[in-house]
Amino acid sequence: MATQQPAIRPANPRFSSGPCAKPPSFDVSKLANAALGRSHRATIGKDKLKAAIENTREILGIPADYKIGIVPASDTGAVEMSLWSLLGQRKVEMLAWESFGAGWVTDVVKQLKIDAEVKTADYGQIVDLASVDFNNDVVFTWNGTTAGVRVPNGDWIADDRDGLTICDATSAAFAMDLPWDKLDVTTFSWQKVLGGEGAHGMLILSPRAVERLESYTPAWPLPKIFRMTKGGKLIEGIFTGATINTPSMLAVEDYLLALDWAQTVGGLQGLIARADANAQAVFDFCDANDWIANLAEDDSTRSNTSVCLKFNDARIQDGAKFAKAVAKRLEAENIALDIGAYRDAPAGLRIWCGGTVETADVQAMLPWLAWAFEAEIAAQSVAA
Ligand SMILES: Cc1ncc(COP(=O)(O)O)c(C=O)c1O
Repeated sequence: MATQQPAIRPANPRFSSGPCAKPPSFDVSKLANAALGRSHRATIGKDKLKAAIENTREILGIPADYKIGIVPASDTGAVEMSLWSLLGQRKVEMLAWESFGAGWVTDVVKQLKIDAEVKTADYGQIVDLASVDFNNDVVFTWNGTTAGVRVPNGDWIADDRDGLTICDATSAAFAMDLPWDKLDVTTFSWQKVLGGEGAHGMLILSPRAVERLESYTPAWPLPKIFRMTKGGKLIEGIFTGATINTPSMLAVEDYLLALDWAQTVGGLQGLIARADANAQAVFDFCDANDWIANLAEDDSTRSNTSVCLKFNDARIQDGAKFAKAVAKRLEAENIALDIGAYRDAPAGLRIWCGGTVETADVQAMLPWLAWAFEAEIAAQSVAA
């Protein structure tokens, strides 16, 4: 039994699922080139915003005819502006298997009052992807951050679809292959896989999504912060760095640095390999210890970023209390920060495995998890 503290500590205890660990090469002094105190509409500001867009395109392999915009309010802002701007023209299918997907269902059904077909699955499971009708607009989350369940790939998405696919890919972009030909609207935020800052969202539109924007006007009013068209034409400026309102040039600089770092580890494939190696270390740990398991029931849907774990041990008296106590113990030892399960998710842990996390740190942290588990089991019997 691992009652003695392991000898090796992770060099970096940051395993939060957002904001995520900064790239290993990060140093605050590297932000010195930020265009601070300058207008974001001056050439220097516009050039940096444009570089953020074009470097994103290069690393993620986004086709040249797709539009990429930097929008307000992080991933939430990017998702909301697409739902409000695009939906209502045809039937909508909403897919959800954790709390963020469920949040988009609430927006569409309760706020926009669209009579959508809603397909949901419990935490750990995924909806029946084969049943999706692509005559409809389909809204889904590529990686359900709070369940650690992702779609296995994009094969289930019809090539000849009439509806649009709207994909919240915030904990997938830069860690998983995203098939751009299958995605009409894709969103993510800087604070996730590349360890950037909150506040700004990325909105990626296929030519078919642009066509919808230019040919359809929703029945409801749109606030300025959501508006992507003027006089029935796309506001091209939003997609070349002329943002709707003022961005943080400090956050922009930080994102540019993260993109530069991504290139040094081999771009997208390098980032995917890093996330895969991190997640595999956790999967192997679960295989070796019967008291802990992946929340994802089907291996093909296991996330390689937000790996969610549940405890399986008959000695545990109060699951939620136990999981919180384990997370607290690891935080107190500065071994793992912010690894408690999301507030709406089943009791357990969530370990971020995206590419900014070093595999050696995951490997150093796991024996401590075994130690914290045993310590909490022992603490329970003392308390009883
Ligand atoms: C799947 C998913 N969607 C949306 C969000 C909200 O992101 P943000 O706070 O960047 O708007 C998150 C944050 O964790 C998420 O995981």
